[in-house]
Amino acid sequence: MSKAPLAAYPALRLRRLRQADWVRRLVRETVLTPADLIWSMVVHEGEGQVPVASMPGVSRLSVKDCAAAAKQARALGIPAIAVFPHIDGSKKDASGKLALDPDGVVARAVKAMKDAAPEVGIMCDVALDPFTDHGHDGLIENGRILNDPTIERLVEQGLMQAKAGCDILAPSDMMDGRCGALRQALEAEGLQDVMIMSYAAKYASAFYGPYREAIGSGKLGTGSVGNPGDKKTYQMDNANHAEALREVALDIAEGADMVMVKPGMPYLDIVRQVVDAFSMPTFAFQVSGEYAMLMAAAQNGWLEEERAIMESLGAFKRAGAAGVITYFAPRAAKLLGA
Ligand code: PBG
Repeated sequence: MSKAPLAAYPALRLRRLRQADWVRRLVRETVLTPADLIWSMVVHEGEGQVPVASMPGVSRLSVKDCAAAAKQARALGIPAIAVFPHIDGSKKDASGKLALDPDGVVARAVKAMKDAAPEVGIMCDVALDPFTDHGHDGLIENGRILNDPTIERLVEQGLMQAKAGCDILAPSDMMDGRCGALRQALEAEGLQDVMIMSYAAKYASAFYGPYREAIGSGKLGTGSVGNPGDKKTYQMDNANHAEALREVALDIAEGADMVMVKPGMPYLDIVRQVVDAFSMPTFAFQVSGEYAMLMAAAQNGWLEEERAIMESLGAFKRAGAAGVITYFAPRAAKLLGA
């Protein structure tokens, strides 16, 4: 007589709950829905759509196309759009003064999207990098990124965005004290309903590469004295986790309503730690490099494209995220049957 396998533990057959689709669905612990997605979108000043070579399937959209995309988001059940500007290189300067332009492409896109689909939330990056000729998020003096003078500009930029109709300000610059300064300024201007989602734990990452092409911020400096070649003096060291909790705690204390971890998939441990430590709405940004990696492998036939996309997005929910900022948003919402 053959002995039953695992006879000593007759109850422990975890495969029982995996035997059919119905029971797998029944015991599933987390679900991804279109309501978990924030659509990451690039707007440019010109007409038509300009494909981003390093991000197959992503194009820079005109202001008009952004408005149409907002309607599409509404139809797909995507709650919010995060808009990033591509600015003509000839218009940039060291101070990034176009970041403050109330008639600039960001303000125009926000207004057009809110007109087209007021039910869709709009989120804007508060940072100078799309507008500076050196590609840094802040002002530079003698090769150093200045903290407090940068914050003064960021506050002006954020107020401009809020007045254009932006619902969520998302400071992505990693200057110390920016959330508090933004929150105070919003209160003072009677804009207390404007939300802040802070890029609280944002790492100095190689995975932002394709985004620099997308928004045309070019390569950072060569590391010369006048222009640091990376963002390591303000974005976090990717070896750190305790520091992420300190960053998040500070941003919450300063008035952030929601927090974000960025990049996404390589930092899921941080997402989980932040969720467990703070019980705050915590988002992850599946950044341009993550998008590019998945698409490049899929286009080589090395990954099953749709399965890999959905698995990557579901991972954020499993890690405890309230949602994910992603370039895949419209595609994923369609795959989810919206
Ligand atoms: C800049 C900013 C970056 C991203 C969002 N805002 C790049 C950076 O910090 O260098 C990255 C987005 C992406 O890679 O998809 N403040």
